[in-house]
Amino acid sequence: MYKNYQLGWLYFKYRLKALNGKGHGTHSPFVYTFIRDVLNDKRKFYCYSGIEFLRRQLLADKKKIVVEDFGAGSKLNKTKERTIAAIAYSSLKPKKYAQLLFRMVNYYQPKTIVELGTSLGITSSYLASGNTNATVYTFEGSSSVATKAKENFTSLKLENIDLTVGNFDDTLSAKMAEMNSIDFAFLDGNHRYEPTINYFEQILTKSNDDTMVILDDIHWSKEMEEAWAYVQNHPRVTTTIDLFFIGVVFFRKEFKNKQLFVIKY
Ligand SMILES: C[S@@+](CC[C@H](N)C(=O)[O-])C[C@H]1O[C@@H](n2cnc3c(N)ncnc32)[C@H](O)[C@@H]1O
Repeated sequence: MYKNYQLGWLYFKYRLKALNGKGHGTHSPFVYTFIRDVLNDKRKFYCYSGIEFLRRQLLADKKKIVVEDFGAGSKLNKTKERTIAAIAYSSLKPKKYAQLLFRMVNYYQPKTIVELGTSLGITSSYLASGNTNATVYTFEGSSSVATKAKENFTSLKLENIDLTVGNFDDTLSAKMAEMNSIDFAFLDGNHRYEPTINYFEQILTKSNDDTMVILDDIHWSKEMEEAWAYVQNHPRVTTTIDLFFIGVVFFRKEFKNKQLFVIKY
């Protein structure tokens, strides 16, 4: 994991390099539309307030639970007691990005969605709200955290989430056997090179031309930057969009040459 000052420097370079975020100069109608209608959609969708209310409750919840710690590098180290608030503070994708993921699902309407790393289920809730006809298959290693996520799905009355508990390495391939195709995947756990590549390759086996894969924390560490470079160079990948804290990957055939965008968000 990079130190804060290193991440700050990388972020500064990203801001200098990034396209203005309005889509001018992209020369790709698909990406231009993505920027205009998804990235820059400022509307407040109906589900936002309920999910953000729940986030605030979790951030204030001092109850302690014993969690199997998958840690920063996600090697299962030990169990430890943590407050719900501390888990929420350190794990949940901030509102800005979670709501962007909601808008991606809401706009493109993927039917089968995979999320690796449920934590307390805030982003899963956004994904599930984006298309209530979709199924969100979400995966979490820590059973106590997963139990809390399930309570959260119930309180938000979300019925289209299928949560699998266990190490991704043991659960992903068996669960994927139940899916015909994966239309949208958010990889948000186990931020190391090898596992990220392995999960990406597994997802690819069920991808189609319209599948979108979102990788979290692509500049978080040297390993993650290497994983992002691997994904960008992958022969199946036709376009990527670097938003610094997340990377968006497309396989659409209409792009003749590989296009790697860096866009301000
Ligand atoms: C960053 S959090 C996910 C946050 C969630 N997507 C959100 O934005 O609301 C990552 C989660 O992945 C889980 N995790 C990490 N490595 C894992 C592994 N190898 N198997 C299963 N779960 C894992 C951790 O327990 C943690 O809860």
